[in-house]
Parts: sequence; structure tokens; C-alpha cells
Amino acid sequence: MFDPSRLYSDRAGKMRKSEIRELLKVTQDPEIISFAGGLPNPKSFPVKDLEVITSNVLKTCPQNALQYGTTHGITELRELILERASKEGVKTDIEDIIITSGSQQGLDAVGKIFLNPGDTAIVESPSYLGGINAFRSYEANLISTPVDKDGMIIDLLEETIKKSLKDEANLKFIYTIPTFQNPAGFVMPESRRKKLIDVATEYDLLIIEDDPYSKLRFDIPAMKPIKAFDDEGRVVYMSTFSKILAPGFRLAWVIASDDISRKIAMCKQALDLCTNTFTQFIAAEFMKSGSMDLHIMKICELYKPKRDIMINSMEKYFPEGYVCNKPKGGMFAWPTLPEGIDTEIMFLDALKEKVAYVHGKAFHVDGGGGRSMRLNFSYSTNEQIEEGIRRLGDVITKKLETKTV
Ligand SMILES: Cc1ncc(COP(=O)(O)O)c(C=O)c1O
Repeated sequence: MFDPSRLYSDRAGKMRKSEIRELLKVTQDPEIISFAGGLPNPKSFPVKDLEVITSNVLKTCPQNALQYGTTHGITELRELILERASKEGVKTDIEDIIITSGSQQGLDAVGKIFLNPGDTAIVESPSYLGGINAFRSYEANLISTPVDKDGMIIDLLEETIKKSLKDEANLKFIYTIPTFQNPAGFVMPESRRKKLIDVATEYDLLIIEDDPYSKLRFDIPAMKPIKAFDDEGRVVYMSTFSKILAPGFRLAWVIASDDISRKIAMCKQALDLCTNTFTQFIAAEFMKSGSMDLHIMKICELYKPKRDIMINSMEKYFPEGYVCNKPKGGMFAWPTLPEGIDTEIMFLDALKEKVAYVHGKAFHVDGGGGRSMRLNFSYSTNEQIEEGIRRLGDVITKKLETKTV
């Protein structure tokens, strides 16, 4: 067998497997109730509408929809995104908007554009594993900054920045998921969003605002994105159709100053030339038909009771001593278990009981999160959620009992 390992670049040698992807492989077993993936519920896919729209697109504009497109994405879709962004207070224009193959591609592009090996980026503690992996693949040094129930604690962020500058770090950007954060579920209030911009301005840093979940909102009024308070192109904003339409479309968008968005386009020219044109046409038609808002409302109606069942089931089945905020939107609960539990070690016990989650350390760049776990509530049925939490409760209780023997 040919062994390619001698030939790999240093970069490839340093790449790490995505823990979530590895876990998802295990959870293919249909008997396992999986809270591990960040999967939308298949019931939320608007199959009937998409059937009609797809057929219309093929009838009316197959020449364009099946052709290569421009690297920035089809104008119609970008105009629709521009209209929505403007309503949310984002001051932007069409040149600033680029359609990407998922937000994951946007994160990768940001890494490629801004990070030299050894450069430093600041991430929340905890943060999104896919972002961490993307930045690490460019050999960045990631440091974390503490969060509380309202997200990044800005005073401590400033301390983190000062300390890293004292250590002569080449600091580039601050990566944040301010609304219904993955994994912790928090929402950063407006006052902190503004302060974050002030701090980034003071230290001349970029902010990467990753916003896949803000539309999945159950109990609070809509929040303006950080980008809405950005007057000088310091924020790179990204959002995605993955959680509000279908992740299989691989469609997302970045809003950045036109200089940065041109650089992202250059990345894409090497990577995939353009984003899937066919799904861009379908998404544009779906938005134009006026179905998007109603559809998002239906997704929220589907997920809110699931959130409630998960939180209530934890109260019923988890032993005393755990802490879990009730997320006001998004797709995840983030409980922290009593002292003495290591959720990474406990994962194998949970699998034996046919229930899966992602352990908390996976979301930390500083080795923290050992007692936390991310539980997805969007994918499973209501019955599976209660049963899965019951199983998890048993696993935790047993773990705590063996600990005290
Ligand atoms: C915070 C965050 N960013 C980015 C992504 C990637 O989304 P996409 O499917 O658009 O690549 C996800 C997916 O779960 C996510 O949770």
C-alpha cells in the first residue's frame, strides 16, 4: 500500500479530526438517541415548497441555474440578503455580500486571509468547534476569553487582549457567536455588542460575528447584530441557510467590507470557483415567494417545545447539583454537571445506554469544560428527548454514586 505520510505538508500533518464528525459516525446506530450533532429537524425542511420551486427553476431558467455562477454569488440572492440585512440595521451594499458554501467556508476563508502561522485569535470559552478547527488549520494560536450568561465579559476580554499583547502576540481578530451561542446558548446584550466594537477599535482588531441561530428565537425580541453598530468595516458578519432552510443546500453569506469580501472571493476562486448556483436560485425563489418568514416561524414553533421538554426532563431526571440555563433560542442546551464528573470519560457510559452528546472540552481551547456537555434539542422527537435525558440522568447518577463509594 502506498503510504503518503512522508509527502504531507507540515500544515496537513497538524490538521486534527473534527471530534463532532467522529462522534456523529458512532451515532449512526438508529438505537442511539443522539443529542450530539447540530442537525435541524428533518420535519423542518419545506419539501413541498422546494419541490414546486425546483421544478419552476428548471422550467424557467435552467441555462443560468445549472451553469457556473459568479464567485460572489447570484445577484438576486445577494439583493434579497441585502434587503434583510438593511432591515436589521446593517449598513451595507451589494458589493459587501458574498455567498459561501456554508458558513464553514466563510470561517475557513477568514482563517486563510488573516492568519499567518503563530498569529493569535481570541475565541469565546466555550466556542464553536468548527471555527476552532478552521482557525487551527492555519496554525493559529487560539486563546479564550471568559463568558457569563450574557456572553463575552468585555472587561475580561480587554484583560485578555492586554495580556496577549504583553506576551507579544500578533493579535488579529475576536471570534464571537453572540446570539444563541453554540454551544452555550447565551445572547450578548446590545450594550456589550457596542462595547465589543469599542474594544476592537481601541486595539485595532477585527471582529468575526458568526450568526447561524438568531432567527431561531423563542422567548426574546429580535436583537441587532454586532455588524449593525459597525461604522468602519471592522466586523465580518456571517450567517447561513443551514438552520433556516436546509444544510444540504450548503448556502451561507458573508457581509464584510468590499476589500475583505474581494479577498474571500479570491479564496473561493481557488477552492470552488463559485457557490452552488442551483441551490442559490432555489433559495432566492423561496425568499421571493414570501415563504421565509412563515417558515422560520414554523421552525421556532417546532423547536420551542423541544427546548422545554429537554429542560423539564433534566429537572426531572438529572441528579441535583447540575446547572443549565434555559436557552431562549437556537438548538442547544449546555448543562454543567456536579463536581467529579468528566463528560469526556462519561461519554462511553452514555453510549452503552444508547444516548450521545458532545463533551464540553471539545469546545474549549484552554482545556476547560470538563463537566459540561452540549445537548442538541432540535433533531430528536419529543419522546426521544425525554427518553434520552432519562438515560443520561441514569448514567450521571450512577457515575456520582460510584464516585462516592
Ligand atoms: C456557530 C456555527 N458556525 C458555523 C456553522 C456552519 O454552518 P454551515 O452549515 O453554514 O457551514 C455552524 C453549524 O452548526 C455553527 O453552529
